[in-house]
Amino acid sequence: PSLTQFVDSLTFPPLINLSSSSGISDESVLTIGAYKIIQKLHRDLPPTPMYAFGTSQKTASVPGPTLLGTQDVEAHLRWENHIRDETHMFVVDDSLHWARPPDGGVPIVVHLHGAEVASASDGHPDAWFTFNATDTGTTFSTLEHRYSNEQPPTALWYHDHAIGITRLNVAAGLSGVYIISSPDEQKILPIGLPLVIQDKQFYENGEINFPMVGVLPDYHLNWCAEYFGDTMLVNGKIWPFLKVLPRAYRFRLLNACNARFLILSLDNPQMHFLQIGTDGGLLHEPWNLTSLTMAPAERVDVIIDFSKLSNGASVILNNSGPTPFPSGDISQMPAKTYAVLKFIVDEDNGITDGVLHEFETANVNVSSLLIDQKPISEEDAVVSRMLGVVEWDDSNHMPMTFTLDNRTWQDDVTQYPMEGTTEIWELMNLRINAHPIHIHLVQFRVLNQQTFSNRSFELGTCSVNIAYGENGSCYTEPPRDPYIYQRGWKDTVITWPNVVTRVLIRFTQRNGLPFKFDPSEGPGYAWHCHIVDHEDNVMMRPFVVTANES
Ligand code: C2O
Ligand code: CU
Repeated sequence: PSLTQFVDSLTFPPLINLSSSSGISDESVLTIGAYKIIQKLHRDLPPTPMYAFGTSQKTASVPGPTLLGTQDVEAHLRWENHIRDETHMFVVDDSLHWARPPDGGVPIVVHLHGAEVASASDGHPDAWFTFNATDTGTTFSTLEHRYSNEQPPTALWYHDHAIGITRLNVAAGLSGVYIISSPDEQKILPIGLPLVIQDKQFYENGEINFPMVGVLPDYHLNWCAEYFGDTMLVNGKIWPFLKVLPRAYRFRLLNACNARFLILSLDNPQMHFLQIGTDGGLLHEPWNLTSLTMAPAERVDVIIDFSKLSNGASVILNNSGPTPFPSGDISQMPAKTYAVLKFIVDEDNGITDGVLHEFETANVNVSSLLIDQKPISEEDAVVSRMLGVVEWDDSNHMPMTFTLDNRTWQDDVTQYPMEGTTEIWELMNLRINAHPIHIHLVQFRVLNQQTFSNRSFELGTCSVNIAYGENGSCYTEPPRDPYIYQRGWKDTVITWPNVVTRVLIRFTQRNGLPFKFDPSEGPGYAWHCHIVDHEDNVMMRPFVVTANES
């Protein structure tokens, strides 16, 4: 359908304060269910059937409620599955390794992306459960998840993680924003406004078109390697507008697309983004940027200042990210996907949430909020692991299978970091496109990136164990610092083609103290590509944290 842009007002999902007295206390549990709903996404589109999170069928929404946790106050949530469908609303690819519930239904499991959390509460992909937990996966132990919220304030993403159908559940709507805040932070900054960006494709009747296009008729028939929609949504509204006051606002951006990378910009050259935080929390110094590059699952904490604009002025948030990224041709993209959201300055009706009151660009001093984080340094690393970001090509069997470390999810665990130690993971992208790699449990630092000759490496004519400049080295340039938008604490990082991305990970809290839970208990964690279509086939690996005996 051809849908007019900017006719619907942006809306925000309900905010649930997890630590207020009216919400939950230590002893009470907040129950959130997954429901099948219909939601109106655009003025001219009939309501869309979706899967959604909420405290009831009536209040369930896409995105789900914004959950507000307080630093150091544990939240206790119970995730239930109330989806009665016998089969998924989209076609499951039965040739993939997936949950396969014996009694049918729609398996789900909830992962809090970016959270420092015990494995049993992490939403392990095999810990899925169907309606009423009739069927459960091999690592399922409980519907109740405990989030210690001990990490620094930031915005996280809760989303489905069921094995082999995550792409379908996320596209159907099972996701929402989870914010950790602190009283100190709230003295300086408002919570801000979540902007959850997704792309989708629709039928005239309002249903989501999730194309089932295997390239060959006999192999992964219902798996498409990357789902790109032709319609952009923010917070579940198609091409919405937002009325703002001529003030500065804090926005919590999330790229919740299956596969689309975003390069966001504002169409007014006088304006810019003041980025104050990354996936893992606030930055020591804000950055002034004219564009924001965001892979799926990345979050950007940003201030946009509309105070110089006159009443009635408008600014469009555009996206120029090519698909696939970065090799795609933007001239081939549907033109309308360039626009995401229109801000309209309206002195009388602008939204009053998210406003920075005594704001002056030069004076945002978030460093006062940063707890003294023990710096993480390369010298502390006890292990360096070289991990390939690979694709298994079979000349007869396009589409391919994507893998990490040349292994699949079902293969034995090969990464056993010890609690408290620091490791370097060298993520070596041997493919022609970028893959955003996400590691559960931790926030890490990008150490550096270095290009290498993919072709010579695959032909075996050079070695990555030899440093740049030495004879026989695969590296074609010395290591370079991470791009500005890859600095700060990250849980998801873009690995560029023909580049090794080295990340520094400490398997503890960021202040160096042990986690308040035992990360060596339970079924372990996952690391994977966050193009969820890749993750499902089977660009995901388990890792297990071992106890530190010393
Ligand atoms: Cu955003 Cu393993 O997930
Ligand atoms: Cu990938």
